[in-house]
Amino acid sequence: MQNLEYLIPGAQADFVSCTTITDLENAKAKYLGKSGALTGAMKGLGKLSAEERPAAGAAINMVKQAIEEALKHRREALLNVEQDKQLASESLDVTLPARMHAQGGLHPVTMTLQRVEALFHSIGFSVATGPEIETDFYNFTALNIPENHPARAMHDTFYVDSGDGKHEQVLRTHTSPVQVHYMEDAIKNNTEFPLKIIASGRVYRVDSDATHSPMFHQVEGLWVDDHISFANLKGVVQDFLRRFFERDDLTVRFRPSFFPFTEPSAEMDMSWNDGWLEIGGCGMVHPEVLKHVGIDSEQYRGFAFGLGIERLTMLRYGVNDLRHFFNNDLRFLQQFTKWKN
Ligand code: DAH
Repeated sequence: MQNLEYLIPGAQADFVSCTTITDLENAKAKYLGKSGALTGAMKGLGKLSAEERPAAGAAINMVKQAIEEALKHRREALLNVEQDKQLASESLDVTLPARMHAQGGLHPVTMTLQRVEALFHSIGFSVATGPEIETDFYNFTALNIPENHPARAMHDTFYVDSGDGKHEQVLRTHTSPVQVHYMEDAIKNNTEFPLKIIASGRVYRVDSDATHSPMFHQVEGLWVDDHISFANLKGVVQDFLRRFFERDDLTVRFRPSFFPFTEPSAEMDMSWNDGWLEIGGCGMVHPEVLKHVGIDSEQYRGFAFGLGIERLTMLRYGVNDLRHFFNNDLRFLQQFTKWKN
């Protein structure tokens, strides 16, 4: 039988000249495939005598192993090259600067709420809170606005449907009900007088235009003690506004008005650009309101006031349309923060 060793260098050269795995598989077929040179020789073994067969078989095997070895070598080399190519194409440039996190800022209305709370806190007011979904009783009745009172119609109330056709809950139309909650709790817990709180937060009315939003913010003030007068109210409000707007020459004017939960009641205006601007309502807490919460109106009296937070914010920052606050336009909001992205 023919010596096949001559095939080895030829196969090695063929394999080395292959530059892809596919080429290599094709080259392999020439030697080890079904009709390859070695396969043919193996088939020829059957024709040999039993004595000749072992030596011839061993010789073929030796050549086959050498060719398989060369094939394995080349295959590994080509796989390495392909892997290197893939790694290079997928590599990360770790020197690239990281993407910045978007840094938020406080909403201008939130900034005003915080400023108002800090200023009142500095003259001894605590901060009280109450629910935004109120009972009809706290939002109206306890504030001396009985059923069928025309003042209820003035409030354009959102009623909450409890599912059984009743409308005993409302989205609070003002922060004044917090006065009632706070005084009730204070009496229950024997809190010492003076009762001195502010309460700020969201309120709701069926109203929407350039100066009204269905959701807006108020801050309520309440000071109850045995010697509180309208003069104290004037002093507190004027002092607050001067500090809030950082204007020592700012003055406040009180116009007689009507609120069911105060008596006497007044509308507050502040001096602004040679004119007057209305900024809220106020008055001495009505004896009926004190009676509702169990405070003796012969012994104690108090003042209360309510201010619009959006109004204060618009004036402080020169914003001319209330709706800007709620449109979530970053071009508007970013003007109030030092963080720009
Ligand atoms: N709750 C009133 C409103 O929203 C504002 C107000 C007026 C609050 C007089 C008061 C007050 O505390 O004394 O229209």
